Amino acid sequence: MTAIQEHSLILVVDDTYTNLEIISEVLKRSGFAVATAHDGISALEKIEFIYPDLILLDVMMPGIDGFETCKRLKANTRTSDIPIMFMTGVSDTDSKVHALELGAVDYIIKPFQEEEVLARLKTHLQLRHLTKNLETQVAERTAALTQALRELQESQIQLVQREKMSALGNLVAGVAHEINNPMGFIVGNLQPAKEHIQELFRVLDLYQKYYPQPVPELQQEISNIDLDYIRADLPNLITSMREGVSRICDITNSLRTFARADSDRKLECNIHDCIDSTLVILKHRLKGNSYRYDIQIVRDYGQLPLLQCYPGQLNQVFMNLFANAIDAIEELVETNHHHSLTTHISPTIWIRTSFNPDHTGIAIQIKDNGMGMSEEVHQKAFDYLFTTKPVGKGTGLGLSIARQIIVENHGGLLKASSQIGVGTEFVIEIPFG
Ligand SMILES: Nc1ncnc2c1ncn2[C@@H]1O[C@H](COP(=O)(O)OP(=O)(O)O)[C@@H](O)[C@H]1O
Ligand SMILES: [Mg+2]
Repeated sequence: MTAIQEHSLILVVDDTYTNLEIISEVLKRSGFAVATAHDGISALEKIEFIYPDLILLDVMMPGIDGFETCKRLKANTRTSDIPIMFMTGVSDTDSKVHALELGAVDYIIKPFQEEEVLARLKTHLQLRHLTKNLETQVAERTAALTQALRELQESQIQLVQREKMSALGNLVAGVAHEINNPMGFIVGNLQPAKEHIQELFRVLDLYQKYYPQPVPELQQEISNIDLDYIRADLPNLITSMREGVSRICDITNSLRTFARADSDRKLECNIHDCIDSTLVILKHRLKGNSYRYDIQIVRDYGQLPLLQCYPGQLNQVFMNLFANAIDAIEELVETNHHHSLTTHISPTIWIRTSFNPDHTGIAIQIKDNGMGMSEEVHQKAFDYLFTTKPVGKGTGLGLSIARQIIVENHGGLLKASSQIGVGTEFVIEIPFG
């Protein structure tokens, strides 16, 4: 006896008691488990409790006949793929065709040859077994392929992200470096320039002291250029140039912090520097226009230790979240404008950093009072390629990249809560170590 047979349960349905007896006897002797039913209805009832591997079904029965019973079995998803073999005394071709059309696998004629019935039965059980195996294999393959696809998408995100980061990082670092060089000349020359000017003025003073009555041409020129004004204004010019220079230095420093390459290793870094340098880069987007005020940044930074992280990646997360917050604020302003409403709120992004609730890491909250998300958008916001923005503006990558960086690369959490028309809050949690 083969393994398939050993465990196979055959349901025999026949209204003639002797037939049932004989077939059951034959099947049991060949090692099958057998269940019986006297008509279609009781077969359908019985099938609620058992799951046969094959059904031998009489055609002519009182109540509902074999064909109807077969139809109902095929209509039920739980029983639809149990193979059915019809048995009947009539050998007309019409009912054979009908039986096969109804989805039966075979048709045997009574009185039958024991060997033949057993042979056919085994064939169908074997077929069924193979089909099942095949289905499992297909399901397994499909699952494996789905998983592979997901991994591929993820590594693609990572690639895109790394590509963009390294291109942007190189550019930014390069520009910052190039600016720093000539900046050095200016910084270095400002002080001597100031001193030279002071010296020149001292010489002028001396001239005026010893030659109080200069020739008319000189007098004319002195009044033309308004020498007193120049004398008063020059120190201001120098101070403001100093300020400009120092601001440029801040910016290039931020750019360098932002672009700090961090390919494979985690570095100890100050999260607040990361956030601030990202904001410097987005500064032009925070500035107001004829529709809206400047976007205010409200910082509430906690006392935090340095964090082991990939700073370049975290910068990208901050960049994505801030860019989304700015987009959401702009969308709210535009929607209001479209409905001829003025936006009374002052557009704001709040940033709060703290220890996470159980002090095993840090938490960063980024909140905006922009458009907010509907429940439906919220559900899909982190999906790969999901965007509600027009082509060219949204890529649908921002949040999936952010989640990947936080969850997979830093073992952390990224959650959002939002209320439409009110705003959105993202919370990042990153564990220590
Ligand atoms: N701060 C936010 N406020 C409102 N909606 C947001 C915010 N952040 C993300 N979303 C929604 O999530 C979607 C996906 O964001 P993201 O993955 O960054 O892709 P993209 O910004 O390119 O659309 C956005 O299109 C937007 O609908
Ligand atoms: Mg985005």
